Amino acid sequence: MMSMTLEEAKSRVKELREQIEYHNRRYYLEDQPEITDAEWDSLMRELLQLEAAYPELADPTSPTQRVGAPVAEGFTKVEHAIPMLSLANAYSTGDLIEFDRRVRQVVGEAVRYVCELKIDGLAVSLRYENGILVQGATRGDGEIGEDITANIRTIRNVPLQLNEPVSIEVRGEAYMPKREFARLNELREAQGEPLFANPRNAAASLRQLDPAVAASRRLGVIVYQLAQPGEHAVGTHSEALAYAARLGLPAHGERRLCHNIEEVVAYIEEWANRRHDLPYATDGMVIKVDDLALQDELGFTAKSPRWAIAYKYAAEQAETTLRSIELTVGRTGVVTPTAVFYPVPLAGTTVARASLHNEDLIHEKDIRVGDVIVVQKAGDIIPEVIRAIPERRTQELPFQMPTTCPQCGSPLQKLNGEVAWRCMNPECPALIREGLIHFASRDAMNIEGLGEQWIAILLDRGMVRTYADLYRLKKADLLQLERMGDKLADKLLRAISDSKRNSLERLLFGLGIRHVGEKAAKTLAQHFGTMDALMVADIDALLQVSDVGPKMAESIRLYFASPSVRLLIGELKELGLNMDYLGARAVSDGPFAGKTVVLTGVLAEADRKQAAAWVEQLGGKVSSSVSVKTDILIAGEKAGSKLAKAQEILATHANASLQILDETAFLKIVDEAGLRR
Ligand code: IVH
Repeated sequence: MMSMTLEEAKSRVKELREQIEYHNRRYYLEDQPEITDAEWDSLMRELLQLEAAYPELADPTSPTQRVGAPVAEGFTKVEHAIPMLSLANAYSTGDLIEFDRRVRQVVGEAVRYVCELKIDGLAVSLRYENGILVQGATRGDGEIGEDITANIRTIRNVPLQLNEPVSIEVRGEAYMPKREFARLNELREAQGEPLFANPRNAAASLRQLDPAVAASRRLGVIVYQLAQPGEHAVGTHSEALAYAARLGLPAHGERRLCHNIEEVVAYIEEWANRRHDLPYATDGMVIKVDDLALQDELGFTAKSPRWAIAYKYAAEQAETTLRSIELTVGRTGVVTPTAVFYPVPLAGTTVARASLHNEDLIHEKDIRVGDVIVVQKAGDIIPEVIRAIPERRTQELPFQMPTTCPQCGSPLQKLNGEVAWRCMNPECPALIREGLIHFASRDAMNIEGLGEQWIAILLDRGMVRTYADLYRLKKADLLQLERMGDKLADKLLRAISDSKRNSLERLLFGLGIRHVGEKAAKTLAQHFGTMDALMVADIDALLQVSDVGPKMAESIRLYFASPSVRLLIGELKELGLNMDYLGARAVSDGPFAGKTVVLTGVLAEADRKQAAAWVEQLGGKVSSSVSVKTDILIAGEKAGSKLAKAQEILATHANASLQILDETAFLKIVDEAGLRR
């Protein structure tokens, strides 16, 4: 590199800056990174080295001068009163000892450190005025972020009101719980949408313009810092977090006060494996000087505080042998190759399979059956094949994608521009099976007990083929099946029969119309009200619906134009399935009609989303905070401040109409309205 001419260096610097900016956009703005963090780091490192070697090429707009992401179009900008910096990294015990030496050189001998697990998500800032949440923002470039208040308000563990009327700004990490990440990706896979590579990218859903989408992704926040601790009468970082917790904020709990760097190293070691059991993804440990006065004394470099450092755990990798490449056909006909290898322990679990995504990727990485391969968990969750080790290869042959469907033998095709091969045969048994599984699933028709296994058995026995067949099942048929008893058969038939009463959006989503996800199904059901109205809608009428674009409109029109679909809908109608949107009707005449309802505490029988849906179906409006305007408070187990507030209102307002219902009373109303199955 040093032997470059200035001209060569200039052109390479330009190229690197463009590449890095491009990948930043893919990562931060589009949530679709194309390169690994390590590859990005290596581009950045080369650029940093060149800029150091050729100072004349310095440029204030170079990506080396940024901390985070540029501001996306569409969000209002927020100037951070206190910049949101990032942390310097440590990769070894040596780096930590060096950090400790630098700290002690400035502040003297005894330094106490707080260690906190480093959460792998998206940095956010929350601002409260007089105890009320007034603003949520992303980090952006550190100086200027984006106003994501509407999205932040959808995060369940972010209090909209603090326990005390203080004005305070806190910083933390928005994250997607691992379990939620898995659920979301399953859903995206079923709908043929691109998967999120890791929970961090999924947490970037906060940068979705539509708060409803952000809300459906169930994020959480963990607060790790007060922006201006000096204003809040706290002397240490530990006290600052304890204060945040007292205010009702979700303060970071996985932390320890260490008296020297040896204790820090031991704590890091302690969590090296255990961290995989946490409900959120972590990628390291943040070490902070506890004493705030010492933090001030240490100060900042241009980009990061001198009083803290982030230790990064090395991504765990393992070697194994690829036994086969399995091809599965999904609901949309897409054929996905999966690597099946000898089981290896990795980041807390044993893994034996990893998606290879598509044919192109297998060829790019030249992965062959029989190869020794290196596997890793992306974001510590999803196993992936990093590479093959060709040096250890004997006679392995390159992978060859079959030209016909592994399930039905019909020729595979690629739709315009797609990398995926598809089976286009609507009669393919794989498409039928996956379609039925989706139809019965929780977010679609919600037929409890009718899972993958029973569907496979019913198909195998020739008892069902279409969705309509499910509603024709008789008890005598079911009782012929192995492991199907009297009780189970009754239960299954009841669940199937109950699903007939579902509101239209569940049926629409369950039918699996291409490009129509759960949210679009709801919008369509609300807009058209009945299946008949939707079926006759032309492209123009469909395009009137918010969120429906030309692609979805065309797909819906094509779907309902098909004679076999019309036949199916006719059959379902005849079998007694509801074809109307029910949400709107309930509002005017339900037992909660016109009432403002607040939910608090934990319900044993239903999650929050389900309870809120019931309230809406009963005619009520769900609100998140208790005030004199609240009509009903539904208080589950462990109800806290909201229940106390409601009791206070009842005690102080003689004519308050507020009613407090416990879970039993609420479920009684739900059952009387026939909502629960
Ligand atoms: S303290 C001055 N604590 O890691 C910055 N950061 O580059 C103080 N992070 O931008 C940050 N967990 O988004 C801190 N317990 C934790 C953290 C944490 C995750 C993120 C944060 C920051 C990045 C460091």
